[in-house]
Amino acid sequence: TRVPGAGRAAGVAASGQDRRVSAPGTAAIPTDAAGAPGRRTSLQEDAQKDAPATEPLGKGEGLVWEEEEGRATLILTFTLRNARKAGLSKTAEVFETFEAGIHHFETRQAKKSKNTTDDLEFFVKCEVDNSYVNLVNLPPFVPWFPKKIRDLDKCHHLIAKYEPDLDHDHPVSLRDPLPRVEYTVQETATWREVYRKLNSLYPTHACKQYLDVFQQLEKCCGYQEDSIPQLQDVSRFLKERTGFQLRPAAGLLSPRDFLASLAFRVFQSTQYIRHSSSPMHSPEPDCCHELLGHVPMLADKEFAQFSQAIGLASLGSSDVEIEKLAALYWFTIEFGLCKQNGSIKAYGAGLLSSYGELVYALSNTPEHKPFDPELTAVHPYQDQTFQPVYFVAENFEDATAKLQKYALKIKKPFSLHYDPFTCSIEILNTPQKVKNMLSQMKEELKNLCFALENIS
Ligand SMILES: [Fe+2]
Repeated sequence: TRVPGAGRAAGVAASGQDRRVSAPGTAAIPTDAAGAPGRRTSLQEDAQKDAPATEPLGKGEGLVWEEEEGRATLILTFTLRNARKAGLSKTAEVFETFEAGIHHFETRQAKKSKNTTDDLEFFVKCEVDNSYVNLVNLPPFVPWFPKKIRDLDKCHHLIAKYEPDLDHDHPVSLRDPLPRVEYTVQETATWREVYRKLNSLYPTHACKQYLDVFQQLEKCCGYQEDSIPQLQDVSRFLKERTGFQLRPAAGLLSPRDFLASLAFRVFQSTQYIRHSSSPMHSPEPDCCHELLGHVPMLADKEFAQFSQAIGLASLGSSDVEIEKLAALYWFTIEFGLCKQNGSIKAYGAGLLSSYGELVYALSNTPEHKPFDPELTAVHPYQDQTFQPVYFVAENFEDATAKLQKYALKIKKPFSLHYDPFTCSIEILNTPQKVKNMLSQMKEELKNLCFALENIS
C-alpha cells in the first residue's frame, strides 16, 4: 500500500466496487446529514457538484484517519480519470471547500490505467475539523493491534528504560533466544535475601495455585536461594504448562503494548535485579518481581486464561478502555486477592514479590472489596505506596467469566478469536469465518461427548 502509517493507524475505508473513495466532498457524504449546519450543508452540495469522477476503490487505495483534539488527520489514496485535464484543480477545490490543511499532496501517472496517460493516482494527507469527518460514513477509528505473534516486535514502546543490556531501538525478537545473564555475586546475594524472606511468608499468605507451582519450580526450574533462574529455562517451563512464554523487556512498557502481548500468551519480563542497598523494595519491576511474583501464577491454567482474556480485550480498544483494562490488570494480576477455604490469599505479583505489602494486604488495615470489573476498572490506584483497597475474587474461573462479560461490552466493530495453532488473532468479520469457528467447536464437542461416554 502507498498509505504511510496504514499499518499503525486507524480505520481503513471499506473496499468494494460500489464504494467511492471517501474523499471529503465526494459522493460518500450523505446529502441528508441530519443536524448539519446550513453552511456545512451548502459546502457539501458545492463539493458534490464539483467532485471529479472517481474510480472505485482498488487494491492499495483507501483512506486512513485519526482523530485528536477536535481535528482529524486523513490519509487518502485514490485514482481520478482524465485528471490531467481538469481533475487536478477541481480536487484541490474540494479540499479548499472543506478548509482542509494540506500536509502532503502528490500525484503520479496511474499505474494500471486502461484508458490514457491522463489518469492520475493521488496521495493526500490533510487535516480537517472533526465535524466534517462525522458527516461522512467512515468506519469507526480502531487503533492498530498485533494480529500475529511476530507483530509483537512492533510492541516495544517504553514508558521508562531500565535494562542496561537491552537496546529498545533494536528489541529482542521472540525468534531470538532469550539471553542468558551472568549475575554478579552481589546480585545473587540480593536475590538470596529476597527469596528467603518471601519464602517464609508464602505458606500462610500465597494462594494454593502459587504454592503448587512454586514447588515444581524448585524441583525442575532452578528456583533456589543461591542462584537466579534464567528466563530461558523459566520460559520453557511455562510453555509446557500453559503456553505462556517470556520475552525480555527493556523497561516499563506502555499499557497498550504490554497488554497486547498477553493476548498471545507472551509475558514481557525484565532481567535486571533491584539495587542491593534496598533488597526489600524496588520502585520498578525487576527479576525478583517477575520470577517470584508473576511466573508461578502464569503456570496455572486458569490464571493463564484470565491473563490472556485481559490481553484479548485490549486489542483494538480505545485509549479510554486501555486505561480501564490497565486498572483491572493492576488490581488483579498485580495486586489481586482471592478467597480460598474460608480465608483470603494473595495471587497478585506485586504482593507476592513484596514482603511488606503482602503482610499489609492480608491484615485488617486495608479495605477488601469483591472483584467487580465495572467498579474495579474505574477505581483509582496507588503506585507510590501500599494500596488502600484490594479486590477479592471468588476464584479464577469466576473472575475470568466476569472479565469476559465486561470485555464484551467494550465497543468494537468486530469480534476476535485467538488461534492457538498459529498463535494469531482472527477477526471474525464474515459469516464464513463464524461458520468455520462453529464447525471447529462442533468437532471439539463431539470429542468431549465421546470422552464422557467412555467415563460413564
Ligand atoms: Fe508486574
